Formats: sequence, C-alpha cells, structure tokens
Amino acid sequence: MIKKIGLLTSGGDAPGMNAALIGAIRAGHKLGKEMYVVYEGYRGLLEKNFVKVDRDFNFDKLSRPGTFIKSARLPEFKNDEVQLEAVKNLKEEGIDALIVIGGDGSYMGAKKLSEKGINCIGLPGTIDNDIASSDVTIGFDTCLNTVVESIDEIVATSSSHRRCAVVEIMGNRCADLTLYAGIATCADYIITRERANKIEDMISELKELKKTNPDHVLILVEEKFIDSNALVDRITNECGFDTRLTVLGHIQRGGTPSAMERFNAIRMGVFALELLDKGIGGVCVGLDGNNLVYRDIYEALKLESPKRDDLYAIHDIVK
Ligand code: ADP
Ligand code: F6P
Repeated sequence: MIKKIGLLTSGGDAPGMNAALIGAIRAGHKLGKEMYVVYEGYRGLLEKNFVKVDRDFNFDKLSRPGTFIKSARLPEFKNDEVQLEAVKNLKEEGIDALIVIGGDGSYMGAKKLSEKGINCIGLPGTIDNDIASSDVTIGFDTCLNTVVESIDEIVATSSSHRRCAVVEIMGNRCADLTLYAGIATCADYIITRERANKIEDMISELKELKKTNPDHVLILVEEKFIDSNALVDRITNECGFDTRLTVLGHIQRGGTPSAMERFNAIRMGVFALELLDKGIGGVCVGLDGNNLVYRDIYEALKLESPKRDDLYAIHDIVK
C-alpha cells in the first residue's frame, strides 16, 4: 500500500498547476497518505529537495498562476543513470509514488520512473494544449483568455489608426492557442504551420483590401515557424499597411487561473490520488469530454493530435 506520495511540476509552468497540487494534497491527506512536494521538477529529485506538507500547504496560492513548487527543465533526466539516482533518493526518503504535472517530455520521465519502481501519474500541465490524451490541458483555458483579452486591447489601438496588427502566439508547435483565439476574436487571418501555404494568398488579398481603406486588419501567427518581423515587413512594403507586431510572450503564462481551470485541475489532482491508492501507476490522466480517464503513458504519447479542419472551417466563416 502506497504511503508517501511526492508531487512535482516540470516543463513550462501553466496557470492551474497550483490548483492541481492543492487538489492532490488534500485528497492525499483525506486518504491517509503522507504528502511531499518536490521543488524544481526532476532536479529536485536529484537534490533531494523534498518537503513534507500538511493539507493546507500553500492554500493561499490556489488562485495564483505559476507553480508554487517551481518548475525546471533538466535534459539529463533522459539518462537512465540519472533516473536511477532519482529513484534511489526517493526510496531513501520512503516516497513510493509521484504525481508529475507537465507535458509530453515530463510524461516520459514519469514513465521511466514507473518502470524503475516509483509509481507515477502524469497530469497534463501546459498552456499549449498539445497532449493528445486530454481534450484540454491544465493552463490552456486561462492562457486562451489572456491571449484573447490581449488581442482585444491591441485591436482597440490598431483600429484607431487603421493599422494592421500581427500578433505572435505561443504553442510550441501546437496551433490550438492561435486557432482558438482566431475564432474567438474573428481574426482576419490565422497563420499556422499547417496552413503555411495560405501566406501568399493572404498577401494578395491584403493588397486588394488596402484599396478599400479598412478599419483595421488582425493577423494571428503561431510562434516558431516563420519570421514574424519579416512578415510584417512584407505586409508593410508589399501591401501598404502601417503594420505592427506584438509578440505576446510570457505574459501568456501569467494569467489568473479561470474557474474552469481550477475546477478541472483540482478534479485531476484528486483523481490521481485515487488511482495511486488503487495501486495504479505509469499512466496519465486526461479529460475525455467531461470525463476523467487514464491511459498508459506510452499509449498516450502515441496518440495523434486531432485534425482541426472543422475549426479552420468555422474561422473561414467568421473572419
Ligand atoms: P514538457 O514536459 O512541457 O513537454 P519538456 O519537453 O521540456 O517539457 O520536458 C520537461 C522535462 O522532462 C525535461 O527537461 C526532462 O527533464 C524530462 N524529460 C523530457 N523527455 C524525457 C525523456 N525522454 N525521458 C526522461 N525524461 C524526460
Ligand atoms: O510549453 C509552454 C511554452 O510556453 C511554449 O508555448 C513556449 O514555446 C515555451 O514554453 C517557452 O519556453 P520558455 O519559458 O523556456 O521560454
């Protein structure tokens, strides 16, 4: 029977991670477990940065973004010897299970630890919504709100000057934030990796549009696949628009977690404890519609992200 359970957050922080931690801590205490936090992701396992916590630990952070136990990226955790060192440290402390909140990379670490004797449960924590085993990830809803609110503010100034606003949005090779925000703001264009072939059409259309002296133009661009500055120069020089680029950057990760974010994150934290209490490990939790489900981590990582043609079609109607 699992007695001592650790919690860690890994990869990019996401709003709602704190709520998931608090849900798990409270569920653990309810089930009679000793709960530990591990500071700074997988690095904390190597540095034995473990702290035993009571049920009210950091409860005042429930509504705060970020992660109150810090996060880290530790590339060397891919090495077997480093994972074995982590397992040794956990065993020495008597911790026999771990909840890992993070993205795909963090899930791999969790699976490797499970294979080496520490039962792990992965919770999907990332603003990017790029974990196919969950309809939504912890952080996505809040981040989307931040993005949409920021775009609304940009449009207020942009339309006052009949400008073209280009807004670059995070996602780390997942277009969901850009696509969902594009629909929510009725953006004129969504430029994503999977629709890269639309750029030339857009340039031609903008040349024609300029002749009609439009109120403003809003273009959303997914990060990390084209040079947004070069795109702005093209729109300025070839289409004649006074164009400005806003790279939203890390402000996207810092929004106050939405109520739905907290609701789902707390549910996932509690569910993870229930799974561990049943002796289940090496799995990750996801939302399937409104239902919590779990899958083997390797199976989950093999799942393909859904095609979003239906969403692009909606955007084509409302743009
Ligand atoms: P995310 O979890 O958000 O996808 P990363 O891909 O940066 O973020 O992964 C977070 C951390 O997970 C990495 O810094 C590393 O410590 C660990 N990790 C990533 N890939 C693996 C792997 N194949 N095996 C073990 N640990 C991994
Ligand atoms: O994975 C979350 C994310 O915010 C991505 O959207 C973004 O590309 C990346 O992390 C930024 O990472 P960093 O915080 O290391 O700059």
